[in-house]
Amino acid sequence: MTFSRIGGTGRYLPERVLTNADREKIVDTTDEWIRTRTGIEERHVATDDEQTSDLCVNAAKIAMADAGVDPQDIDLIVIGTTSPDLLFPNVATIVQHKMGIPACAAFSLETACSGFIYAISTADKFIRAGDTKCALVIGAEIITRLIDWEDRNTCVLFGDGAGAVILQPSEEQGIMSTHLGADGQYKDLLYYPVGVSNNLAAAGVGDSRIMMAGNEVFKVAVKTLASIAQTALDANNMTLDDVDWLIPHQANLRIIQAAAKRIGMPMEKVIQTVQMHGNTSAASVPLALDVGIRDGRIKRGQTLLLEAFGGGFTWGSVLLRY
Ligand code: ACO
Repeated sequence: MTFSRIGGTGRYLPERVLTNADREKIVDTTDEWIRTRTGIEERHVATDDEQTSDLCVNAAKIAMADAGVDPQDIDLIVIGTTSPDLLFPNVATIVQHKMGIPACAAFSLETACSGFIYAISTADKFIRAGDTKCALVIGAEIITRLIDWEDRNTCVLFGDGAGAVILQPSEEQGIMSTHLGADGQYKDLLYYPVGVSNNLAAAGVGDSRIMMAGNEVFKVAVKTLASIAQTALDANNMTLDDVDWLIPHQANLRIIQAAAKRIGMPMEKVIQTVQMHGNTSAASVPLALDVGIRDGRIKRGQTLLLEAFGGGFTWGSVLLRY
């Protein structure tokens, strides 16, 4: 039986860092409010000349070097993002061109903060079907381009970045299961009000902002993150004792803590990066994965539970042996 397995990882964060003190200068907020309500201390923000594809390329180069693969080895590119360079061509083709990757399937998915989980689940299926030998999977965002910097409800939460993974076929167990879900009835709790077929002509630059019912999102996020972790464990006849690391979407430290508590996962076994990255949407899980691997906490052979939740709502989990 063929599994898909992570061959390498990489991450890239824009150099520019905005601290809570920097936010205090723009909106009526305080470092103390942001830390206690969200856990966030700082976030990276792309400069105007950086595109999402640039962040992807930087993260991908590191993941490819880690896996020991060259551009010509890649035969599938899947990118989860809500902030592509252009509406079309899709950002995966732009990354392909910038990296000199030969012709292959290349596409992006827009499932908000669950983007990377949807992307890696899709690539896993391509590999297990025998269609793909080396997939480049990325979660990337310049989500701060969608921010109204004068809206204190959202401008303190988000940051930019990209995390990349090389996924390859293996006889050894890698990805054990993936579970994806969505429920469109929650659209009004978290959305961006401009799209191609909606309001595009009417909207001027800076007219729109992320619409979010923070408290409601919080409650559904906690419940969903807890229940999808349990679903993944049950599907594999495993318990939390079998999991070495939980790597949840990094939206808010209180969401991460509440969801971990609900399932009984000690925080020592939860990778946390929201403090330094903010909410990077589709990039948050692969960024946290790479941080845990490179600081030596996550080791080969360990069992990881990745999970995410985002606008839609969408959600998903990946249980894997690293
Ligand atoms: N600084 C100071 N005060 C603020 C700020 C700020 N940055 N933002 C909001 N407030 C105020 C509000 O205006 C409100 O004031 P009021 O009582 O006078 O009306 C007060 O703080 C309390 O607001 P609440 O919404 O009750 O605060 P809460 O404790 O719920 O925290 C937060 C708000 C951080 C947004 C929280 O609800 C949250 O994190 N929700 C999840 C949303 C999220 O993560 N979205 C990201 C995308 S979805 C995802 O990734 C899962």
